[in-house]
Amino acid sequence: MNLRIPGPTPCPPEVLLASSRQMIDHRGPEFAELLASVTGGLKRWFGTAHDLFIFPGSGTGGLEAGVANCFSPGDHVLAVSIGVFGERFASIAQAFGLKVTKYAVEFGEAAQPARVAALLDENPDIKGVLVTHNETSTGVTNDIAAISRAVAGRTLLLVDGVSSIGALPFQADAWGVDIAVTGSQKAFMSPPGVVAVSVSPRAWAASERATCPRFYWDFIKARQYLAQGQTFTTPAISILYSIQEGLALMAAEGMESVFARHRDLARYTRERLTALGFRIMSDGIHFSDVVTAAWLPAGVDGKALVSSLRRDHAIVISGGQQSLAGKIIRIGHVGWVQRPELDAVFEALQATLPKVGGRTAVAVG
Ligand SMILES: Cc1ncc(COP(=O)(O)O)c(C=O)c1O
Repeated sequence: MNLRIPGPTPCPPEVLLASSRQMIDHRGPEFAELLASVTGGLKRWFGTAHDLFIFPGSGTGGLEAGVANCFSPGDHVLAVSIGVFGERFASIAQAFGLKVTKYAVEFGEAAQPARVAALLDENPDIKGVLVTHNETSTGVTNDIAAISRAVAGRTLLLVDGVSSIGALPFQADAWGVDIAVTGSQKAFMSPPGVVAVSVSPRAWAASERATCPRFYWDFIKARQYLAQGQTFTTPAISILYSIQEGLALMAAEGMESVFARHRDLARYTRERLTALGFRIMSDGIHFSDVVTAAWLPAGVDGKALVSSLRRDHAIVISGGQQSLAGKIIRIGHVGWVQRPELDAVFEALQATLPKVGGRTAVAVG
């Protein structure tokens, strides 16, 4: 299968091999070495010299960890939502009893930093801004540096970097990001099951006052155990081996080359999809380098298109989520991917479109 969804992403053979290693004592020196290596490697991609904790879990758990450790029930937060995952971040805050003011945009648009600033001016009691870096449901990337300038240190800044960190430049410390979250299953080319969360000194200060309940996700326990080269619970050892290998491959390619490859693949995908009659879902500026979302050409049955690619070409792409189901397709180009895997998708699309309601005479870029 040519898996071209925006995560989980295919794992390189070296990563799969690493995950098949024998188990080790998670309270012993070999594990301490593995944990230090993965934590240190991830910190480079987060752009942080502060704390970073690893938990068994998925990205959503990391978002919940950020909310539970930083706030108390009744605290007012601004949830910036540009799609399905922004909505999820807002829902987590609501589930913990926070007062949530939501700033939502039309699907396909990015958040306006000036609007974030205005909302903070109007609501001086807001204690935190929750925002998605790369919105996987719409293929749009928010400008976190600009949003951070708009926040201007007035509140905590919590960033969902689940589909961005490792593929897009990220500078948690330089941008003043207090909590950043990512998962193992996208840019780090590893199986799902590990989440990483960075915690700034300001987030630590907030956590001392925060009373939201937490146990599994408690940063204090995570810090105590990390100081001994351990994790509080049994770690996902196999996935940590995978991430260590993924990090090694990424380091060998070089950080700037990894970012440039994602940028190039995204541009290429937009060109090829446009030539096939798709309309890229974006405001024309904040395109995602991780996943491209596109409106279907007129007459095309989106569900039939996705299932025909899977059945006839062994290619798996994503459709739209929730209200976008059947209206868009999404092609992931994150992690272990080069042009040939994408070319196979465009060729299959060209062959399939006329069979699912598209016009026959489509040009190929
Ligand atoms: C931007 C973003 N946030 C959050 C999530 C949720 O992560 P998980 O499914 O690992 O809990 C995803 C998953 O695709 C995502 O893309």
